[in-house]
Amino acid sequence: MSVIDEVKQRVDIIEVVSQYAALKKAGRTFRALCPFHSEKHPSFFVYPEQQSWHCFGACNTGGDVFSFIMKKEGIDFGDALRLLAQKAGVTISSRFEPEAGKEERERLYQVNQAAAQYFHNLLLNSAAGERAREYFTSRGFSLKTITDFQLGFSLNSWEALKQYLVERGYTESELLTAGLVIEAEAEGGKTHDRFRNRLMFPIHDIRGRIVGFGARVLDDSLPKYLNSPQTLIFDKSNCLYGINLATAAIRQQNLVVIVEGYIDVITAHQNGFNNVVASMGTSVTEKQVGRLKRLTKNMALALDADAAGEEATLRGVGYENTLEAEVKVIILPRGKDPDDVIKEDAKIWQNLLEEALPIVDYTFNMVTSELDLNIAKGKSLAVDKLLPIVAEMKDTVRQAHYLQKLARLVKVSQHSLEAALGKIKPSQGKRQAKEPSQERVTHAVHPLLSSPVEEYCLALLLQHPELKGRNEGLSPEYFENSENREIFTAWQQANDLSSLKDGLDSAIWEHLDSLKTRSLPANQIEQKYTNCVLRLREKFLRSLEVKRAGVLALEAESGGTAAELAKLEEQGIEVSVQLGEVFTQKSRGSQEQRR
Ligand code: GTP
Ligand code: MN
Repeated sequence: MSVIDEVKQRVDIIEVVSQYAALKKAGRTFRALCPFHSEKHPSFFVYPEQQSWHCFGACNTGGDVFSFIMKKEGIDFGDALRLLAQKAGVTISSRFEPEAGKEERERLYQVNQAAAQYFHNLLLNSAAGERAREYFTSRGFSLKTITDFQLGFSLNSWEALKQYLVERGYTESELLTAGLVIEAEAEGGKTHDRFRNRLMFPIHDIRGRIVGFGARVLDDSLPKYLNSPQTLIFDKSNCLYGINLATAAIRQQNLVVIVEGYIDVITAHQNGFNNVVASMGTSVTEKQVGRLKRLTKNMALALDADAAGEEATLRGVGYENTLEAEVKVIILPRGKDPDDVIKEDAKIWQNLLEEALPIVDYTFNMVTSELDLNIAKGKSLAVDKLLPIVAEMKDTVRQAHYLQKLARLVKVSQHSLEAALGKIKPSQGKRQAKEPSQERVTHAVHPLLSSPVEEYCLALLLQHPELKGRNEGLSPEYFENSENREIFTAWQQANDLSSLKDGLDSAIWEHLDSLKTRSLPANQIEQKYTNCVLRLREKFLRSLEVKRAGVLALEAESGGTAAELAKLEEQGIEVSVQLGEVFTQKSRGSQEQRR
């Protein structure tokens, strides 16, 4: 049995949830004030039979015991699994850890940690750290902030760190691999410390491991910042500064704010804006967005007025496609970064956050404000700039919306814009599909623990890359089992199915492999997939319907207020309309099959 299944079998969702919420028995369910948002009337329910939970209030979402812990603790699936395994006394054997290069990577985390401690101690306690202490004080950093971010200082010396770490058993070659020392060619390959006389900013990954460093000068000399080089564990395009301290807030607020600089993140956090991370000096990358997608779909980019051009918008639309959600922009006052704004007055920053505009609307405003849309030239310039942005949109409803908006602005028919749109090719071509694995083995199914439809659907997706292009409206919500939901989300994000494991915790690899190698019927794959999505949707909606009806009955019994009853009724109507659509589609499908 897999660790995931073993944990599921051993933990009871009621027991777990009751550590976070005051559950009261209500019929066959348990009920409490929702632990995820504040409310006066309990709309959070736990279902012991299905081992699941659902909030009918502001969250309007639910899941299994893993997703509960992930949401509550602000951690990813792997960490939730480990936490629950520990509670349940299940040991996770090392076979679930990524084996290749694991020891080497582990050693790099260790050496970085040792270096960070060394820098941190120098900052706090050494005489040489006096200027650095003054510097941070002048930037307004409190002692708590300095500790939370493990800030540090590197001595003005060629070998201080090297000597310190070598004495502690790290080899020179390890220090080189970690990027903490560099080889000086002129001196015949002799190594010396990379970071000297700088303020040190350790960069953590989401699990709190130190993957690299940023290092700032104490004055105005250049380069202002020096970063660790690319290493086995450090890839700048994949890191988000502050993510280790921001995860819980990002999940809670269901929003991530992305700024540019280290200092901006630190000042934001010190002022209570804990959902802020930095993109490491460059503009946000697709990889970073992919990571964040697991925490929230709502993203706001803090851009300075100069950076927020059409090019940035095009990238923004790319992220919107990845996230399947709108990206907003916070436009900073000219010449100021978030650090300046927050320090001047946190309320101004709060206002900027509240006034954040969808990135496309912002660009529309910006482009059109500079043009005279009453003359032909102005119109065609506006179309030249804005139509390519509309062309990039994957979501056809949004595309239609902005096409309409553009047509209205330049006062030309939507029809002629559509014709022009047809001529623009979106920049990202169709992705090349890879051959599915030939190897097939049968998989032992554990009734009760697994969900056959969910797994069948994933097996189809994993073994038939050509299905990636089909948009059947499959949603992560349809997967009640967190491990399946994780795999589905990773599949949605992956450009190439062979790199799927990169986006997944190693604890899920075994499950993933079993899905990849499960035997499947060989023909009519597309049709099977369509049916499967319908079945999943039906399963999801029916389960929602049953739960909702249960709540309604309870509410009616206990004399709930009219408003609450009405809201539940309304949700119910929506669900039954959607269920109706599923049935229509199903019958249409079976008619076609008969033909
Ligand atoms: P302060 O000037 O101290 O307020 O720092 P800042 O964090 O606001 O820096 P700035 O706005 O100048 O730059 C934003 C981010 O770009 C920094 O946090 C760095 O990540 C990056 N950056 C800035 N200067 C350099 C540089 O010289 N080299 C590298 N590699 N990155 C830099
Ligand atoms: Mn700054």
